[in-house]
Amino acid sequence: MIAYRQKLKLSVVAIAVSMGLAGTIVGCNDNNSTSQVQDEEAQFRAKAEAMVKDLSLSEKLDILQGPGMDLNTYAGIPPINLEEGKDVPGIAGYINGVKNEVLDIPAAKLSDGPAGLRFSPTREGQSGTFYATAWPIGSLLASSWDTDLVKKVGEAFGDEVKEYGVDFLLAPGMNIQRNPLLGRNFEYYSEDPVVSGKIAAAMVNGVESNGVGATIKHFVANNAETNRFFNDSIAEPRTLREIYLRSFQIAVEDSQPWAVMSSYNLLNGTYVDQRKDVLTDILRDEWKFKGLVMSDWFAGNVAGLTSDFTGDVGRDPESAAKQIAAGNNLIEPGNVKEDLQASYENGTLTEEDIDKSVVAILTQVQKSPSYNHYQYSESPDLNAHIALSRLAASESMVLLKNMESALPIAADKKVATFGTTQINTFKGGTGSGDVNSAYVKDIASGLAEQFDVNDGLVSFFSDYWDQNKVSNPALFASGYVIEEPSVAAVPALQELIASSAESDDAAIITIGRQAGEGSDRSSGKGDYLLSDTEQEMITAVAAAFHAKGKKVTVVLNVNGVIDTAAWSDSVDAILLAYMGGQETGSAVADVLSGAVNPSGKLAQTMPASYSDVPSSTTFPGTDVDGDGLPDKSYYNEGIYVGYRYYTSFNKPVSYAFGHGLSYTTFAYGNSAVTSNTLTAGGNLTITTTITNTGSVAGKEAAQVYVNAPENKLKKPTVELKAFDKTALLAAGESEVLTFNISAQTLSSFDPANNEWIIEPGTYNVYVAPSSDVSDIQPITFSISNEIVVSKTTPNTLALPDGVTAGSFVTVSE
Ligand code: BGC
Repeated sequence: MIAYRQKLKLSVVAIAVSMGLAGTIVGCNDNNSTSQVQDEEAQFRAKAEAMVKDLSLSEKLDILQGPGMDLNTYAGIPPINLEEGKDVPGIAGYINGVKNEVLDIPAAKLSDGPAGLRFSPTREGQSGTFYATAWPIGSLLASSWDTDLVKKVGEAFGDEVKEYGVDFLLAPGMNIQRNPLLGRNFEYYSEDPVVSGKIAAAMVNGVESNGVGATIKHFVANNAETNRFFNDSIAEPRTLREIYLRSFQIAVEDSQPWAVMSSYNLLNGTYVDQRKDVLTDILRDEWKFKGLVMSDWFAGNVAGLTSDFTGDVGRDPESAAKQIAAGNNLIEPGNVKEDLQASYENGTLTEEDIDKSVVAILTQVQKSPSYNHYQYSESPDLNAHIALSRLAASESMVLLKNMESALPIAADKKVATFGTTQINTFKGGTGSGDVNSAYVKDIASGLAEQFDVNDGLVSFFSDYWDQNKVSNPALFASGYVIEEPSVAAVPALQELIASSAESDDAAIITIGRQAGEGSDRSSGKGDYLLSDTEQEMITAVAAAFHAKGKKVTVVLNVNGVIDTAAWSDSVDAILLAYMGGQETGSAVADVLSGAVNPSGKLAQTMPASYSDVPSSTTFPGTDVDGDGLPDKSYYNEGIYVGYRYYTSFNKPVSYAFGHGLSYTTFAYGNSAVTSNTLTAGGNLTITTTITNTGSVAGKEAAQVYVNAPENKLKKPTVELKAFDKTALLAAGESEVLTFNISAQTLSSFDPANNEWIIEPGTYNVYVAPSSDVSDIQPITFSISNEIVVSKTTPNTLALPDGVTAGSFVTVSE
């Protein structure tokens, strides 16, 4: 949340806090007994239940109403009982505290976001600056396929959360990347629910190992930014269960986060934050989630704001009550107390529902550093974290193409670098996922530390950038954008191309794309497609360098997937760097020089054409109400998202999901099912031996795809069920990887019977380097009778009135 604060016209609600300060205030922070108790969660819950008895209705409503953004930039209501001297300016919100005759619960602090902790670098009355580490974006971290690495990043990230005085991190973001043009894809991990769920769980476990909370978001089916407050995602229960909910289910079951953030969108006609089936029946009762649920900021039309925060559409004064009744415990960012009070008085909100939410919130708050009066240092070890950020970025970048060993480039070689993104390098996306880091190492500087770079070219692009940059017009954008110079129109650039092809050993062209919160990308030139000037630059540089027998590499410093089909044949190597955080430039250089052998693999497909994307005709939605903005998104493709579609309908792709090259080679051998205890609760164990058959050390991310029999249910040709990554294997070295697939992960959702089932028949299992399993010999196992893995709540996720299965235009070849 950034620049829209001035535009708010919300009524400020007077706070009626009963401040009965006479007599002794009994502190509630004695944790002595809890440390001895096995089930801490139950202990916190019992205490929260006791606390509720000492709260007036007014105090309870204060707790349900998050007071919103930081005091410096939001003219709203100040958080109640914020510990003196312990505010963190620039954060996204708070949970109100309480101070009465019995209780003294400090306000808790909530801060974004997915790629680093977000707060103001400067503070009133203080001369110093405060920075956080900018980590690699979510899509890049997921490309590591390395849950240990992601957990380490989470540990360091969580240390910053704690040492800067924050209690809950508003991350990780983990929506499924349904369409490559979603503006916020950079915050998210993958098109696949197993990758998203496992990587998110690793991040949550890392962050929370510090005793601070993580918030998985945006729950659920929040897959378009255009008109994001009012876009209605319309999808069948099976689609939701197997793809969009499944990632969150895995994250909840594997990491039990302190919080879940419900999403802006409607789902099948109702705001997600007002859906009891999603927030209570599924999240709490089926998945056993124990934490608190908070709304996204202004979600559910509590404020009557249009999606761009400029208009007034007429607010729903019952929205807050509907949210609380559904199980959305905390409403951000506040100003709903009067609504809640009115709903309580007119009987639409019961005290029982209010108490449930208060208990859910206070159960988590007791674990927080603020509640426990933690004396934070404001000086985490940023140097160590920056080094980890660089390592994580380099271990995650994906080498898409590398003909005739164009890469690595030996460290003493002369390199010619092209493109303004080498100067204006993107560390991350825009909006609440942006981070105030101390600096960004640009690609030109990173390369200069490891290669002999052509200074004339760096100066040319640096000057061009300074003279031609313009403010980025996107809604939440920060910074500038630029169009590349046209080679044909700039003689100085033509000369530099010709002279560098003579003098330098290799060319490196950087292509950049920025995007972020509040808007989606376009499928046209300059966004999904290269602009004419970018294409011109690639063509001219490739011609000049190839004429001299020299290689050309393209580095993609992008927010999300772009087209490569139109130009990849012109170049020798392509590195998908995504956005690597503040050390992007160093990480790119580490991979290009071979200091780090690339081991990242795509967590999303790179299609041959945008029109091949199964949601391309429905994204970001259809304007049904005629206001010029899309408001209905039909998920016609159903479960056929990403590689599930391309593999099932034989669509060729540019680079398959799971693809990524290394400077060495690997052989897969001895794949076998070593244990099969598949029952409702059992699992399947598979082992494979991975051998480094090349000449340099490297790591390999191996993936397990299953082709399942079809009885009642149609299935995608292959579905990822497990993955793992080797340690750094020396040339000739082997490692045995073990993959465990739970019955739940293997199962498919049978909507007719409200149950997850494993159907009988023969299963083909491919242990493979990518989702292209065409050359892989499967191993098989059989199931003789259908296994019902789990039952689900009947009548959940129903389609809206008037929509039936027949309303979806099913995808085909
Ligand atoms: C975003 C959330 C973010 C919140 C607070 C919202 O606009 O969607 O992801 O956590 O603002 O900044």
